[in-house]
Amino acid sequence: MSRFYVAGAAGHAQEVAWSLREARATVGLETKLVFFDDRVPAGLLPSGLGAVAGTLDDLAAGDVHDATLVLGIGLPGAKEAVVARLAATGRPWATVIHPRATIGPNVTIGEGAYVAAGAIATLNVRIGRFATVNMHAQVAHDGVVGEFATLHPDAHLAGNVVVGDRCEIGTGASVIPGVRIAAGAVVGAGGVVVRSVERPGTWVGVPVRAVAPPKRKRA
Ligand SMILES: CC(C)(COP(=O)(O)OP(=O)(O)OC[C@H]1O[C@@H](n2cnc3c(N)ncnc32)[C@H](O)[C@@H]1OP(=O)(O)O)[C@@H](O)C(=O)NCCC(=O)NCCS
Repeated sequence: MSRFYVAGAAGHAQEVAWSLREARATVGLETKLVFFDDRVPAGLLPSGLGAVAGTLDDLAAGDVHDATLVLGIGLPGAKEAVVARLAATGRPWATVIHPRATIGPNVTIGEGAYVAAGAIATLNVRIGRFATVNMHAQVAHDGVVGEFATLHPDAHLAGNVVVGDRCEIGTGASVIPGVRIAAGAVVGAGGVVVRSVERPGTWVGVPVRAVAPPKRKRA
């Protein structure tokens, strides 16, 4: 039975791990999952998927020569930090695609990426390394989801949309065809993007507008 070490053990990590187990089960493979998290205490998880064996430092320092890593983190900055923290293990990262995700022709999905149940990537789509396409998110034809970017549940990208590296697209957000979103930009839940977003920062509303940075108080 193959052993998978999951970085993270909170709800999202368990969803990723479950998706991996489901995908492997469809081809008759069993899956041993071991979780590592800095905040979730050691012990069995209530989902029954496995147990937390220690912290991420324990994972980094442990004997992991036989394991494949699984990225159980949902937010771009945290994903990038954890991947950097575990780089010295030299272990590969699983690309996790739930068996009930719909993946069309000429779709490439990078190492460590996660495509959840109900998500759709139609055709000629590029999903970058460590990108997340969460439940029922949609990436239409010729779309690009950059490295470490995250589409939260029900985010919808129309055709020819480019989401830059490390972007976060909130749950239920919609992006019209041909729009490009600058690396590192955050689109709030329910936001509608009708023009390209040329710079990072947080964008909310219908259509999205930049959220003003908080004003500094005078001394
Ligand atoms: C956009 C977002 C990242 C902003 O978070 P934040 O930086 O903590 O910002 P704040 O909550 O301080 O909000 C700043 C302002 O934007 C408004 N705002 C925040 N999110 C908004 C949204 N989705 N739509 C419209 N306005 C929003 C707030 O009301 C606030 O307005 P105000 O200054 O007039 O009071 C967050 O609200 C969001 O929508 N995240 C999406 C997360 C998601 O989809 N998660 C799914 C996990 S499965």
